[in-house]
This record gives sequence, C-alpha cells and structure tokens, in this order.
Amino acid sequence: MPPRHLIRTSDFSTAEILTLFVNALHYKQLLASKTPTHHPLKHKNVITIFFENSTRTLSSFELAVKNLGGDILRLDVSRSSTSKGETISDTAANLNAMNPDAIIIRHKNAGAGYYLSSQVNCPIINGGDGAHSHPTQALLDLLTIMEHFGLEELLATEGRSDIAPIAPLDSIRGKKIAIVGDVINSRVANSNLELLTRFGMEVILVAPPHFLPQSELRTSDDLRTIAKEVDVIMSLRTQTERHNQVIYGSLKDYALRFCVTKEILGDSPCIILHPGPVHRNIDIDDEVLKDPRSKVLEQVTNGVCVRMAALDFLIA
Ligand code: CP
Repeated sequence: MPPRHLIRTSDFSTAEILTLFVNALHYKQLLASKTPTHHPLKHKNVITIFFENSTRTLSSFELAVKNLGGDILRLDVSRSSTSKGETISDTAANLNAMNPDAIIIRHKNAGAGYYLSSQVNCPIINGGDGAHSHPTQALLDLLTIMEHFGLEELLATEGRSDIAPIAPLDSIRGKKIAIVGDVINSRVANSNLELLTRFGMEVILVAPPHFLPQSELRTSDDLRTIAKEVDVIMSLRTQTERHNQVIYGSLKDYALRFCVTKEILGDSPCIILHPGPVHRNIDIDDEVLKDPRSKVLEQVTNGVCVRMAALDFLIA
C-alpha cells in the first residue's frame, strides 16, 4: 500500500475527519487529566524539516509525536546541507534512505510537500507550504469551532460506517464565519475555505480588495457591519513577508478598519479565532485577546491533540 499523505485538507474524507476529531478529543481528555496515552508510535521515527520559522506547528507536532511514544528528529535547516546548495529532492532522497515513518515539512514554496510526497516511501505531512495549504491548522480550527457549538453530534458519529460524504453535523451547518485580513496570501485561509465550506459553513471574506482572492464567496470590506451577523470571526496576520510591495498605507491604517476590537464586537456572542502569530492591535486588540470569546489559545491546545490524531491515522 502506498503511504497516505496530508498535503491539503481534501486528502481526508469527511468521514475520516470526523473519526480523527473523535480520536483528537479522546487524546485531549487524556492530556488534560495527565493520563498517559497508549504509545502507537513506539519505535517510529518522525523527521521535522521546517524551512520557515514556526512556534505552534513545530512544537505541537513534536509534542504530539512524544505523547504517542515516538521519536522525533528535528532537521535544523540552518545547519543542514541545504545551506550548502543541496536540492530539496536530494535532501528528500537522503532522509528517505534513513527509513523514517513520516516527514513533516514546512516550506516557503507552494507545492513543496506535494513534491516531496512523490520522492519518499513514508507519509508526508504538510506543516505549511507558501500560500497554498496548512491542513492541520484548518483541522484544529474546525475542531475548535465544533467544540464551541456542541460536540454531541460529532461524538455520535463514533464507530459509524454510514457517514454521508457531506457533513452530517447540523450544529455547524449554516453558521457564518468571517475570514478577515490577508486572505490571498494565507495558506490558513486557503485550507479553511475548502474545509469549512465542505462542512456547510457560510464563509464571508472580509478584507481590502487587494487582499482578496478571486472567489465566488461573498466579500466585504466592512468588518463593522459583518461582525454583527457572523457566528465566528477568524482574523489573519498581514503576511508582509509575502508582499512584493507595500499594499496598504501602513499596518496602522489597515488596523483602523480591520482590527477586531471590543468596540466592533459589542455584545455579539461570536467567537474569535486566529492561527497565530497575532499582530496585537493590528489583527486583534489586547482587550479582545483577553475576552472569553477569544479561542486563540484553545486553538493551540487543540493543535496538539489534532496532530496526535493525524499522526496516529497516518503512521500507527
Ligand atoms: N499557526 C501557525 O502556523 O503558527 P506557527 O507559524 O507558529 O507554526
């Protein structure tokens, strides 16, 4: 059997995602109660190779592997032979020759993980490639949303083999989410667009016109109005590292219209997500980050258990 990979969210069926989420919640409970998990990754070796910086994705994958009893090898890209000109193809061939059980890669170029998957014999997990895809981020975002709107339906899918290819969860179907900010440069947005629409959520893109991709989805540049009608706001970082030119007067100008503030939220019950790293008072203001409606750190907590479930699914 060729290995399965997780390059984009569409690599997993809806039924597989629901099963993965049930497993993730099981791991979350065990971690919260400090109960040791079984060790499905015992004697398994996972390599991380991150060509771009990371706090959340890298550390949560490493914790996930350790929690499952596996061994992790972090290839330090700055000290690796890629800095001497070795190609990614040769790097992949050499890593593959060490027979790892999975490789987790982040790269600035879209398609890097997909390319790697054609060069190796083990699962490739995409930890983010350019503006293309960040599948585990979107999965943890969706689980965080589901947790907020109630888990009964999700938990009732456990062990069912008859899950329809469209999402069976009424708890989130039709809920509205505003994805706010630098959508066109965001792999997080890209992955969430596929996943959230597949699960029946109504997505509204809120950004200045030059941050919007070509899309059939509803768009707006008026966060103040949209915030009153949505159930979830997902704020994104302005990805200046991906801009070829300055495309907004300044981040301060941008924040005046697109920062999620307490004043804009008013008494709305909507929840606030952000993949991190947050530009405080540009993407979301300090007060909102402290507000119970902010689920930003809950997303990080869910990142560990979702990645445990993904590793379990792909490797164990
Ligand atoms: N959300 C996310 O990808 O964060 P890191 O860049 O810190 O991994």
